[in-house]
Amino acid sequence: MKNLIFVFILYATLLTVNAVPHQFDKRATTFIPCPDDLPSPNVIMTPDPLVAGQSARFNVSGTLYNDLVANIADLRIRFIDSTRKTLIVNPYYQLFNESFPRFTPFSIVAQKVDVPSNLTSKYTIEVVIEAKELDDIYGCSMADGKKINS
Ligand SMILES: *[C@@H]1O[C@H](CO)[C@@H](O)[C@H](O)[C@H]1NC(C)=O
Ligand SMILES: *[C@@H]1O[C@H](CO)[C@@H](O)[C@H](O)[C@H]1NC(C)=O
Ligand SMILES: *[C@@H]1O[C@H](CO)[C@@H](O)[C@H](O)[C@H]1NC(C)=O
Repeated sequence: MKNLIFVFILYATLLTVNAVPHQFDKRATTFIPCPDDLPSPNVIMTPDPLVAGQSARFNVSGTLYNDLVANIADLRIRFIDSTRKTLIVNPYYQLFNESFPRFTPFSIVAQKVDVPSNLTSKYTIEVVIEAKELDDIYGCSMADGKKINS
Protein backbone atom coordinates (compact mmCIF):
# COMPACT_ATOMS: atom_id res chain seq x y z
CA MET A 1 0.00 0.00 0.00
CA LYS A 2 2.82 2.43 0.93
CA ASN A 3 4.52 1.65 -2.36
CA LEU A 4 1.35 2.33 -4.23
CA ILE A 5 0.94 5.70 -2.52
CA PHE A 6 4.57 6.51 -3.29
CA VAL A 7 4.12 5.70 -6.96
CA PHE A 8 1.01 7.80 -7.00
CA ILE A 9 2.75 10.81 -5.44
CA LEU A 10 5.69 10.39 -7.82
CA TYR A 11 3.30 10.23 -10.74
CA ALA A 12 1.38 13.32 -9.56
CA THR A 13 4.69 15.19 -9.17
CA LEU A 14 5.77 14.20 -12.67
CA LEU A 15 2.46 15.35 -14.04
CA THR A 16 2.77 18.73 -12.30
CA VAL A 17 6.35 19.26 -13.49
CA ASN A 18 5.25 18.28 -16.96
CA ALA A 19 2.34 20.69 -16.91
CA VAL A 20 4.28 23.83 -15.99
CA PRO A 21 5.91 24.70 -19.36
CA HIS A 22 2.56 24.46 -21.11
CA GLN A 23 1.21 27.46 -19.21
CA PHE A 24 3.52 29.63 -21.31
CA ASP A 25 2.32 28.28 -24.64
CA LYS A 26 -0.24 30.35 -26.45
CA ARG A 27 -2.92 28.03 -27.74
CA ALA A 28 -6.45 28.83 -28.71
CA THR A 29 -7.80 25.48 -27.57
CA THR A 30 -7.55 24.25 -23.98
CA PHE A 31 -7.69 20.52 -23.42
CA ILE A 32 -8.94 19.32 -20.04
CA PRO A 33 -9.31 15.86 -18.47
CA CYS A 34 -12.43 13.93 -19.47
CA PRO A 35 -14.98 13.34 -16.68
CA ASP A 36 -13.78 9.76 -16.18
CA ASP A 37 -10.71 10.46 -13.97
CA LEU A 38 -8.28 8.90 -16.45
CA PRO A 39 -4.88 10.51 -17.07
CA SER A 40 -5.19 13.42 -19.47
CA PRO A 41 -2.64 13.46 -22.31
CA ASN A 42 -1.26 16.72 -23.73
CA VAL A 43 -2.63 17.58 -27.14
CA ILE A 44 -0.98 19.97 -29.61
CA MET A 45 -3.07 20.70 -32.68
CA THR A 46 -1.75 22.41 -35.79
CA PRO A 47 -3.47 24.62 -36.78
CA ASP A 48 -5.05 25.72 -33.51
CA PRO A 49 -7.89 26.60 -33.73
CA LEU A 50 -8.93 23.98 -36.26
CA VAL A 51 -10.44 24.99 -39.59
CA ALA A 52 -13.58 23.16 -40.73
CA GLY A 53 -13.03 21.13 -43.90
CA GLN A 54 -9.24 21.16 -43.66
CA SER A 55 -6.89 18.61 -42.15
CA ALA A 56 -4.91 19.05 -38.96
CA ARG A 57 -1.94 17.50 -37.19
CA PHE A 58 -2.38 16.17 -33.67
CA ASN A 59 0.60 15.48 -31.42
CA VAL A 60 -0.60 13.61 -28.34
CA SER A 61 1.85 12.94 -25.53
CA GLY A 62 1.99 12.18 -21.83
CA THR A 63 2.51 9.43 -19.30
CA LEU A 64 -0.03 6.71 -18.58
CA TYR A 65 -0.59 3.92 -16.06
CA ASN A 66 -0.78 1.23 -18.75
CA ASP A 67 1.62 -0.33 -21.22
CA LEU A 68 0.98 0.85 -24.75
CA VAL A 69 1.61 -2.05 -27.10
CA ALA A 70 2.38 -1.43 -30.77
CA ASN A 71 -0.41 -2.46 -33.13
CA ILE A 72 -2.83 -2.88 -30.22
CA ALA A 73 -2.94 0.54 -28.54
CA ASP A 74 -4.53 3.30 -30.59
CA LEU A 75 -5.30 6.98 -30.72
CA ARG A 76 -8.95 7.92 -31.23
CA ILE A 77 -10.09 11.43 -32.09
CA ARG A 78 -13.77 12.31 -32.14
CA PHE A 79 -15.72 15.43 -33.02
CA ILE A 80 -18.94 15.61 -31.04
CA ASP A 81 -21.70 18.22 -31.11
CA SER A 82 -21.96 20.59 -28.14
CA THR A 83 -24.65 18.51 -26.44
CA ARG A 84 -21.97 15.78 -26.37
CA LYS A 85 -24.43 13.26 -27.74
CA THR A 86 -24.00 13.16 -31.50
CA LEU A 87 -20.83 12.20 -33.32
CA ILE A 88 -20.32 14.57 -36.25
CA VAL A 89 -18.25 12.07 -38.28
CA ASN A 90 -16.84 8.60 -37.74
CA PRO A 91 -13.91 8.67 -35.28
CA TYR A 92 -10.32 8.92 -36.47
CA TYR A 93 -8.22 5.92 -35.38
CA GLN A 94 -4.45 5.41 -35.55
CA LEU A 95 -2.60 2.41 -34.14
CA PHE A 96 0.63 2.96 -32.22
CA ASN A 97 3.58 1.76 -34.31
CA GLU A 98 5.86 1.78 -31.25
CA SER A 99 5.39 0.36 -27.73
CA PHE A 100 5.72 2.48 -24.59
CA PRO A 101 5.94 0.90 -21.11
CA ARG A 102 3.67 2.29 -18.38
CA PHE A 103 4.96 5.40 -16.54
CA THR A 104 7.26 6.34 -19.40
CA PRO A 105 6.46 9.30 -21.64
CA PHE A 106 4.81 8.43 -24.93
CA SER A 107 3.90 10.44 -27.97
CA ILE A 108 1.94 9.73 -31.11
CA VAL A 109 1.51 12.08 -34.05
CA ALA A 110 -1.48 11.95 -36.38
CA GLN A 111 -0.27 13.87 -39.42
CA LYS A 112 -3.57 14.26 -41.22
CA VAL A 113 -6.85 14.28 -39.35
CA ASP A 114 -9.74 15.56 -41.44
CA VAL A 115 -11.69 18.25 -39.64
CA PRO A 116 -15.33 17.83 -40.74
CA SER A 117 -16.78 20.67 -42.83
CA ASN A 118 -20.16 20.12 -41.14
CA LEU A 119 -18.89 20.92 -37.63
CA THR A 120 -21.59 22.33 -35.40
CA SER A 121 -21.05 25.99 -34.41
CA LYS A 122 -19.85 24.75 -31.02
CA TYR A 123 -18.34 21.32 -30.73
CA THR A 124 -16.18 19.11 -28.53
CA ILE A 125 -12.94 17.39 -29.56
CA GLU A 126 -12.21 14.22 -27.62
CA VAL A 127 -8.75 12.63 -27.77
CA VAL A 128 -8.46 9.13 -26.33
CA ILE A 129 -5.58 6.71 -25.89
CA GLU A 130 -7.05 3.22 -25.76
CA ALA A 131 -6.84 -0.36 -26.94
CA LYS A 132 -10.05 -0.55 -28.92
CA GLU A 133 -9.53 -4.27 -29.54
CA LEU A 134 -9.35 -4.94 -25.81
CA ASP A 135 -12.09 -2.46 -24.85
CA ASP A 136 -9.60 -0.61 -22.60
CA ILE A 137 -9.29 3.15 -22.24
CA TYR A 138 -6.02 4.51 -20.85
CA GLY A 139 -6.24 8.28 -21.17
CA CYS A 140 -8.63 10.97 -22.32
CA SER A 141 -8.56 14.72 -22.94
CA MET A 142 -11.25 16.96 -24.35
CA ALA A 143 -11.69 20.55 -25.49
CA ASP A 144 -14.45 22.82 -26.67
CA GLY A 145 -14.16 24.42 -30.08
CA LYS A 146 -16.04 27.00 -32.10
CA LYS A 147 -16.46 26.39 -35.79
CA ILE A 148 -14.09 28.38 -38.00
CA ASN A 149 -14.63 28.23 -41.75
CA SER A 150 -11.78 28.39 -44.22
C1 LIG B 1 5.13 16.11 -29.76
O1 LIG B 1 4.99 16.87 -28.56
C2 LIG B 1 5.96 16.51 -27.58
C3 LIG B 1 5.61 17.25 -26.31
O2 LIG B 1 5.51 18.63 -26.52
C4 LIG B 1 7.35 16.83 -28.11
O3 LIG B 1 8.30 16.45 -27.14
C5 LIG B 1 7.58 16.07 -29.40
O4 LIG B 1 8.83 16.45 -29.95
C6 LIG B 1 6.48 16.35 -30.41
N1 LIG B 1 6.65 15.47 -31.54
C7 LIG B 1 6.56 15.89 -32.80
C8 LIG B 1 6.86 14.85 -33.84
O5 LIG B 1 6.24 17.02 -33.10
C1 LIG C 1 -21.20 15.26 -41.59
O1 LIG C 1 -20.73 14.90 -42.87
C2 LIG C 1 -20.36 13.53 -43.00
C3 LIG C 1 -19.79 13.30 -44.38
O2 LIG C 1 -18.70 14.13 -44.61
C4 LIG C 1 -21.53 12.63 -42.74
O3 LIG C 1 -21.13 11.27 -42.79
C5 LIG C 1 -22.11 12.94 -41.37
O4 LIG C 1 -23.28 12.18 -41.16
C6 LIG C 1 -22.42 14.43 -41.22
N1 LIG C 1 -22.76 14.64 -39.82
C7 LIG C 1 -23.87 15.23 -39.43
C8 LIG C 1 -24.08 15.34 -37.95
O5 LIG C 1 -24.68 15.68 -40.22
C1 LIG D 1 5.96 5.45 -36.61
O1 LIG D 1 5.34 6.25 -37.61
C2 LIG D 1 5.89 7.55 -37.70
C3 LIG D 1 5.11 8.32 -38.74
O2 LIG D 1 3.75 8.08 -38.64
C4 LIG D 1 7.35 7.49 -38.10
O3 LIG D 1 7.90 8.79 -38.12
C5 LIG D 1 8.09 6.63 -37.09
O4 LIG D 1 9.43 6.47 -37.52
C6 LIG D 1 7.44 5.28 -36.96
N1 LIG D 1 8.11 4.53 -35.87
C7 LIG D 1 8.46 3.26 -36.00
C8 LIG D 1 9.10 2.64 -34.79
O5 LIG D 1 8.22 2.62 -37.01
